[in-house]
This record gives sequence, C-alpha cells and structure tokens, in this order.
Amino acid sequence: MNFAPDIFAGRSAVVTGGATGIGWYIVRMLGGLGANVGIVSRKEENLVRASEQFKAEDGIDVAWRTGDVRDPDGIKKAIDELANENGGLDILVCNAAGNFICPTEELSWNGWRTVIEIDLNGTFNCCQAALPYLKNAGDGGRIISISTTGANFGWPTAAHAGAAKAGIQNLMKSLAVEWGGYGIRCNWISPGPIKGTEGVDRLIIQQGMAEKVTKSIPLGVFGDGDDIANAVVFLAGETGKYISGAELVVDGGAQWNRR
Ligand code: COA
Repeated sequence: MNFAPDIFAGRSAVVTGGATGIGWYIVRMLGGLGANVGIVSRKEENLVRASEQFKAEDGIDVAWRTGDVRDPDGIKKAIDELANENGGLDILVCNAAGNFICPTEELSWNGWRTVIEIDLNGTFNCCQAALPYLKNAGDGGRIISISTTGANFGWPTAAHAGAAKAGIQNLMKSLAVEWGGYGIRCNWISPGPIKGTEGVDRLIIQQGMAEKVTKSIPLGVFGDGDDIANAVVFLAGETGKYISGAELVVDGGAQWNRR
C-alpha cells in the first residue's frame, strides 16, 4: 500500500459485491486507509468469510448486509442501514456484476435480461439509494463504477455484459452532469483481466483463452486486484477532486492492441 494510512479516516464507503473478486481488494484497500466500509452482496456465506478475513488479516471491521442490486427496495434498505451504522456515505463503489460467456445467437431473453438487470439496473438502483447520503458527504460524494473496456469496443460472446457496461458508462456521464451541482463526482474504472478473480476464471481460463489473452496484453501479465483498488483510491481521494465523468482504464495497455 503506497498511500498515507489515514487518508479516508472519517469517510464511509459502500462496495457492492465487495465480498469476492475485485470488490474484495477495493474493500481491503479502503478499509486499510481508514474508511468505514460496508459491503452489500447476495451471499451471506461470502460476506461472513470476507469480514472474518478482513478482521483477522488486516484488523479491518467491515459492516455488511445481504442484498441483490436488482431489488431497488432491498438495496435502499441495505444502504440506509449501512449509512446509519457507518456515519453516512461518502464513497459508493458499484462493483456487483454478473456475466457469462454465451454467443448472442444462443442467449435467451432471460439471460440477456438477467445481466442487464444486475449490471446496469443494479448500478442505477445503488446510485439512487446512495444519493441522499452522497449529497451530505463532507467534501463531496463519489461514485465509482466498475466497467470494462469491452464496453468501448463491443464484447462478442458477452454482448449482454458489454451493453450493460456501456450503459453504466453513459449513466456515469449523465450523473456527473446532473449531480455535479451536489459536489458528487461520478467516474468509472475499466479493468483488464485481474488474476485470481472469478471473472478471469470463468470468462478467460475456463474458455481456454489464458495464453492468448496474456499475449495480447502489452505489459505481458494479468493485473492484480490492488491495481484496481489503487485506481479507486486515486478517484475517491483528494487526488481525484477535479475528475468527474471520466474513465480510468487499468488494463496493461490491452485495449489498444486490436491486432
Ligand atoms: N450460458 C447461457 N445462459 C446462461 C448462463 C450461461 N453460462 N448462465 C446463466 N444463463 C442464463 C440462464 O439459463 C437463465 O436464462 P433461462 O431462464 O432462459 O434459462 C438466465 O441466464 C438467468 O440465470 P440464473 O442462473 O437463473 O440467474 P441468477 O440470477 O441466479 O444468476 C448470473 C445470474 C449471471 C449472475 C450467474 O451467471 C452467476 O451467478 N454468475 C456468477 C457471478 C458472476 O457472474 N460474477 C461475475 C463474473 S465476471
């Protein structure tokens, strides 16, 4: 960790899907830098395991609620409770996502709908629920959504996720304008393949694509979870105070390698 250890002291964050994958690294980083972090995720067993691990390994207490980002009332309740428990809400990280590889020709309506609902509608639900708290955030609220470079180029065999993530990016642009007057900054991070995550396992390794994808990355390796967490800190901290409506790509240069 390369940041001053207390830069988020007195700040509160909610990370959706923060019990696993990239979200787990974001929670650990924000908590390690002094934020009161709350996690919303669907599966209680993941939340219990992660919170025990954060406590034992990093001395970080996280609050958590089970919740499905597709359920606006449930998400509002979870965010209300976490904000009350943690003394408000300064930073919302919309990280929860669902995805699977499926050629569009074979994709059922329900498959399409499910991913759009988790990724795009879920981000909308969380932003709406967090807004009253973000408006009151001490030095301005921040929303950081986790997207993908696939949203910039199309994502063959994951068109559902590509479309949903493109929608998220556009939502962040609109909210940057609409909510900028409240001092809220809205940005998104587009990660490349991050090792050790379910996403890489399911979307790349299980598809037999690990070698091909690695070769396509100019920096030659998959990213670390902390590469994304560092980007969240940059955008959420004082370093990002004039950044809104922007994309931060963290992919080892891969998006420009279209050969
Ligand atoms: N290929 C094709 N269709 C698929 C699929 C796959 N691999 N996985 C799910 N679907 C379809 C289902 O068949 C269903 O459509 P149907 O009713 O027409 O059959 C629809 O998607 C909903 O699936 P279901 O499993 O009922 O939804 P869910 O809400 O329980 O979970 C996901 C949906 C997308 C989140 C599920 O794939 C999942 O749990 N993934 C693990 C978490 C994850 O995706 N993490 C992100 C990694 S990047």
